[in-house]
Amino acid sequence: MAELIAEEKIDQIRQAVDIVEVIGDYVQLKKQGRNYFGLCPFHGENTPSFSVSPDKQIFHCFGCGAGGNIFSFLMELEGISFHEAAVRLADKANIELQLNHTELNKEKGISSELQAIYDAHELLCKFYHHLLVNTKDGQHALEYLLSRGFTRESIDKFQIGYSLHSWDFIYKFLAKRDFKAEWMEKAGLIIRSERDGSYFDRFRDRIMFPIFDRNGKTVAFSGRTLGSEEPKYLNSPETVIFNKSKILYNFHLARPHIRRTHQAVLFEGFADVISSDRAGVKNGIATMGTSLTESHISLIRQNVESVTICYDSDKAGIEAAFRAGKLLTDAGSAIKVALMPDGLDPDEYIKKYGDDKFQTEVIGASLTWMSFKFLYYRRGKNLQNEGDQLEYIEQILKEISALTKAVERDHYLRQLASEFSLSIDALKEQQRHIFFSEKRKSQSENKAGKVPIVIPKQVSELKPAYYTAERRLIRHMLKNRDIAYRVQELLQGNTFNTDEHQAIITYLFGFYENHFHSDSSAFLNYIQDDKLRRIVANIEMMAINEELSDQELMDYLKQVLNYQKWLKIKEKEAEEKEAERKQDYRKAATIAMEIIQLRKSL
Ligand code: GTP
Ligand code: MN
Repeated sequence: MAELIAEEKIDQIRQAVDIVEVIGDYVQLKKQGRNYFGLCPFHGENTPSFSVSPDKQIFHCFGCGAGGNIFSFLMELEGISFHEAAVRLADKANIELQLNHTELNKEKGISSELQAIYDAHELLCKFYHHLLVNTKDGQHALEYLLSRGFTRESIDKFQIGYSLHSWDFIYKFLAKRDFKAEWMEKAGLIIRSERDGSYFDRFRDRIMFPIFDRNGKTVAFSGRTLGSEEPKYLNSPETVIFNKSKILYNFHLARPHIRRTHQAVLFEGFADVISSDRAGVKNGIATMGTSLTESHISLIRQNVESVTICYDSDKAGIEAAFRAGKLLTDAGSAIKVALMPDGLDPDEYIKKYGDDKFQTEVIGASLTWMSFKFLYYRRGKNLQNEGDQLEYIEQILKEISALTKAVERDHYLRQLASEFSLSIDALKEQQRHIFFSEKRKSQSENKAGKVPIVIPKQVSELKPAYYTAERRLIRHMLKNRDIAYRVQELLQGNTFNTDEHQAIITYLFGFYENHFHSDSSAFLNYIQDDKLRRIVANIEMMAINEELSDQELMDYLKQVLNYQKWLKIKEKEAEEKEAERKQDYRKAATIAMEIIQLRKSL
C-alpha cells in the first residue's frame, strides 16, 4: 500500500520523526556510546541486545535478528501495514497527509479497494449476527448454539452469526450496496465459478464467527457447519487484511486482561476461548487452527511473560501443547500447562463440570512446565518395565540438566529419587554426567563456547571468510555510494557468493540510481523483502574502520573471488578423478595443469 502516500511525503515523515523517541515509547532505552540499548520487544531476554542507532535511524537486535527502520518497527510490533505505520508517524510529526479516499480513488483505486474490503466485513459481521439472533432463518442455528451452552451474552460479545442457506444471497446483498464483485472475491467473501464466471457465496448455512484483528476490526470469518459436512470449520482465505499466521483469536478483547493479570491462556480452538470467557477466563486467546508461528510468539512476548497452555487433553492436544510450550519457552516465556481429564476439550469440560471447577481445578491447578514434561515423557511407557523406566529417567535427567537454577534442579532430582526409590547421589551424578556431555556436544557445535542458548545460530555459527568479507564490503557500500560503484567495477561481473548479499547489493544499485547519498533508513524502505531488511540492519550495526584503504578493499574482494575459484578447483578435481577412473590420463593431466594454474591465482 506504500504507493498511496507520495514518496516525498514518506521522506518527509522519515526525516521528521526520531526513531529513538518512537521506540522509546515501547522500550526503555539507555545510551551507550553512539547507540541506544534496551530489552528487545520482539523476543524474551534479560540482557539488552536490542540496539537503536540515532545516526542511521535504524534498529537491530543481536539476539533475534529483528531489524529495520521506524516504519518496519511499528509494522512488526503493532502488526500494521506500511501504510498504517506511515499514517501514525505522520500524525505524530503533525504532517498533513491529505488522504482522501475518493480523491485517491481517482488516482489509484487501491485504497478504496482496501476500504471496501474492511467495510464489507464490518457490514457482514453485523448482518450475519442479525440473521442469527433476529430471524426465523437463523433460528435453528441459534438453537444449536444455545444447546451447546453458548449464552446470548457471549453470542453478542463475539458477534456470532449465521450465513443463509443460499448460493448467492450475500453476493446480491453486496452488489446492491455497490461492492465490486471482483473486490469481494479478493476479500474471500464470494467465489467466482470457473465454469461460467458467475459468483456465489463462500459461506452458506454455517455458524459465522467473525475474526477480529488487534484493533477489533473484522478481517475474516470462520464458519462452522451445523451438520457433519466437511470441513467442520471453513475459514476465509488469506487476503490483504487476513494473515492467519499473525492473528490470535480474541486478542483485542483479551489484551487488557492479559496485561492486568500478567498471564495469557492459550487455547486450541476459538470455541474454547468463548466458553472460557463465559466461565470467567477473560485472558484467553487461540490460533486459527494452525500451530504457533513466530509472529504469534512475538505478539505474545510483547504483552506478557507467562502463558498457560490449555489444549485438548487427547493425544494430538498433548503433543501440540508440548510443541507450543517448547517454542514459547525458547522465546523466553514462562509456561504452565492446564490439563483436563479424559480427553475433554475446555469447552466440553466447562459444560460438564461448570465454570468454577474450570477456574480452580483446570486453570488454577495448572502444572509447571517441568511437571508437564514429567507427565509427557511418561505417556506410552510402562514404568514397571525396567527398560521404559531407564529411558524415562534419562529423558527427565536431560530436562533437569537444562535448568539453570540449582534449587530447581535439586527439587526435581529429589522428586525423581523418591518416585523410583533411587539414591539422590547416584541421580545427581548421572545428571552431572549428562550436563557435561550435552555441554561438550554444544561446544563442538559452536566454537564460541559459553554462548547462552538464546543466541541464535546466525551469531554463533562460524562463517567462512568470504561471508564476512562480503558483509564488510556491503557495510562500506551502504555508507558510501562511490565505494559501491568501485566494488561493482572491481567485481567485473562476478557476484557475491551469498545469495542474500547479492540480492542486497542489487537493491543497493537500484537505490543509488535515484539517491545520490547513502541513507540507511531510506534504503530499508526501498527493500521489499523482510528478511533482507533484517540482514541490512544487522550489517549496518557492524563496527568497521571509518576509512576503507585500498589494501583492505582488495583483501575483501580477494576473499570473495577466491571462493569462486576454490569452487572451480573442487569441480576440476572431481573431473580429474573421473578422467582417471576412465583411464583417460591425457585428460587428467590437462585438468591437473588447470588446477595448478587456478591454485596459483589464489
Ligand atoms: P467444536 O467442534 O465446535 O467444539 O470446535 P473445537 O474448538 O472443539 O474444534 P477442534 O478442537 O476440532 O479444533 C480446534 C480448532 O482447529 C478450531 O477452532 C479451528 O480453528 C480449527 N479447525 C478445526 N476443524 C477445522 C477444519 O475443518 N478446517 C479448518 N480450517 N480449521 C479447523
Ligand atoms: Mn469442542
